[in-house]
Amino acid sequence: MPLVTLPDGARVPALGLGTWRMGEQARTRRHEVDAVRLALELGCRLIDTAEMYGEGGAEEVVGEALAGAIADGVVTRDEVFVVTKVYPHNASRKGVAEACARSLSRLRLDHVDLYLLHWPGSHPIAETIGGFAGLVASGRIRRWGVSNFDAKGMARVWRAPGGENCAVNQVYYSASQRGIEHDLLPWQREHALPTMAYCPIDQGALAADQVFTEIGARHGVSAAQAALAWVMRDPDVIAIPKAVSAPHLRDNFAAAGLRLTARDLTEVEIAFPPPDGPEPLAMV
Ligand SMILES: NC(=O)c1ccc[n+]([C@@H]2O[C@H](COP(=O)([O-])OP(=O)(O)OC[C@H]3O[C@@H](n4cnc5c(N)ncnc54)[C@H](OP(=O)(O)O)[C@@H]3O)[C@@H](O)[C@H]2O)c1
Repeated sequence: MPLVTLPDGARVPALGLGTWRMGEQARTRRHEVDAVRLALELGCRLIDTAEMYGEGGAEEVVGEALAGAIADGVVTRDEVFVVTKVYPHNASRKGVAEACARSLSRLRLDHVDLYLLHWPGSHPIAETIGGFAGLVASGRIRRWGVSNFDAKGMARVWRAPGGENCAVNQVYYSASQRGIEHDLLPWQREHALPTMAYCPIDQGALAADQVFTEIGARHGVSAAQAALAWVMRDPDVIAIPKAVSAPHLRDNFAAAGLRLTARDLTEVEIAFPPPDGPEPLAMV
């Protein structure tokens, strides 16, 4: 599994598991807990969730699966890098502490490895960062970051007291959504800030894409695996595809070692050209 180095030196897997749309319905919960458990058995060591997903339901799914996997000796707590996110409306100094306590209770954990502001909101960023710093100091979170921040937003984070302690920015990034390559990705590289790529297979669409199907065929892998390898082609990008189906999970966690060739990359450049100017940040 390739690793990505965070600004504080921690090394985390370049491929993790997303959990959006999990925990929304009681009738699918068992299946989702089993999916997260299978991911851990397949070697997944990074899980992304949020208080928003299923209004806490996804955190409960992750908490149940992780507790079971730890109890059964599949993983230890320290081996798994758990990411969750605070709603912007909860991101006041006091609000982040309360939201984090609720998330930890649903996750059945005493700390998360990374806590993100889900998207920019109305609370001043300096206040949110102050709240995050308090959580780092009390050991409830190991580090913090942001999500859905464009280059101007990142500059605001950097200007705030303690803002340069931000560990990642999580944004939409896939072959068909390359807008961040114009300004955000260069900004982040200049500031040594890794990118966490959400929707890396375009919510499933790239799994049926002709170009990635052909690239995958040359490597004996699926289009989804080729699309993930494209997102993970640089050493500072972490991809967090979501899957609950067992074949999808097996497919994705077998993709980690795949390296695309110059010919593959050229074909992607032609089919999915990079941005030729500034674009608003893609979001879902
Ligand atoms: N920060 C944010 O604002 C934000 C926004 C969106 C997403 N995220 C995070 O990023 C994660 C990933 O994004 P996403 O879930 O929107 O989209 P995604 O990971 O690009 O796509 C997920 C979809 O692709 C399907 N899939 C997964 N692996 C596949 C494979 N190998 N072959 C074919 N289909 C496959 C899944 O099906 P099954 O589930 O049926 O297996 C699911 O329908 C989220 O779950 C969430 O954790 C963050």
